[in-house]
Amino acid sequence: MTIRSARIIGCGSYLPATVLTNAELASRLDTTDEWIRSRTGISERRIAAAGEMTSDLAVAAANKALAHAGVGADSLDFILVATTTPDLIFPATATIVQRKLGATRLQMPACDIQAVCAGFIYALAMADSLIRAGSARRILVIGAETMSRLVDWQDRSICILFGDGAGAVVVEGSTESGSGILSTHLHADGSYEQLLCTDGGISQGLLVNPGAGSGLARMRGNEVFKQAVMALEGVVDETLAANGLEKSQIDWLVPHQANIRIIHSTAKRLGMQMDRVVVTVDRHGNTSAASVPLALDEAVRDGRIQPGQLLLLEAFGGGFTWGSALVRW
Ligand code: UT7
Repeated sequence: MTIRSARIIGCGSYLPATVLTNAELASRLDTTDEWIRSRTGISERRIAAAGEMTSDLAVAAANKALAHAGVGADSLDFILVATTTPDLIFPATATIVQRKLGATRLQMPACDIQAVCAGFIYALAMADSLIRAGSARRILVIGAETMSRLVDWQDRSICILFGDGAGAVVVEGSTESGSGILSTHLHADGSYEQLLCTDGGISQGLLVNPGAGSGLARMRGNEVFKQAVMALEGVVDETLAANGLEKSQIDWLVPHQANIRIIHSTAKRLGMQMDRVVVTVDRHGNTSAASVPLALDEAVRDGRIQPGQLLLLEAFGGGFTWGSALVRW
């Protein structure tokens, strides 16, 4: 049996119950609902409960993805968790997820991928490569974050942006070509480290956020914005060219949800009307590595995304890291 492609056979997502509205933020900080909505498109975001960890969000999303795919956790060959906010520095959140899924018996490999907001696209690309190389047959790919634990709640330029959540997909080898993940495109440019980073960490030894064992997230938003727009335009063009596609052939854009203005600019580049773009940023804020699988799951479950349609997934984040995946659903 020759494996010719990797297909997404199920998806799932999870959002914590607590909703944090712009109005609540405006009561604590020098900001307004109007400023946040007009500059970002965000109205509210979810916040993990005390004691609710990234692995808990990941497991809730994973269980839904496994049920949607109709497969058990014991049938997986690999677990990849994309996260910037692991439960612990080690062990990897993926091994904690494996234990919480009750899937330790077969001792499949499990590890985390750290590419910040592009982490899910990176993990999906790696799952695709592992499957096409014959190294794994079925892989659970999760994007899960508790970004609320990494932001400075006194810094209005960043805390209004982020939210918590998780999304997951099950990826499986297929003997058909021309279906599933058609291509992935990954990039990084480490020269932009200072525009979006934490201000402390383990090896640096600057534990300004000792509760989380890390620094706090800092961003020069306006400069990040400009680079994000350019990088995403580039990767969208690269994806179309690599597949010999016209813009009009893309059925759905499933973008990273950082800012509605960035999403508008990518949609414009693709000549797409916004009714072909999956938008969750208004209700989720930026959930970093979780944002693309959360958006994908929402549009699959409400019936917008249909079998056979062509999806363009993309994301951009700290590093900088960015990338895309073209998927025949
Ligand atoms: O997912 C990873 C990638 N991340 C991104 O792609 C995020 C990219 N950046 C952005 O989304 C936007 O740059 C922000 C939403 C973060 C900021 O929007 P902006 O239009 O670039 O605003 P700005 O940073 O240029 O700031 C404009 C003004 C400043 O005041 P002055 O200097 O003009 O007086 C800020 O101090 O807005 C002020 N400001 C705020 N005002 C009210 C910054 N944050 C706030 C706030 N409420 N929350």
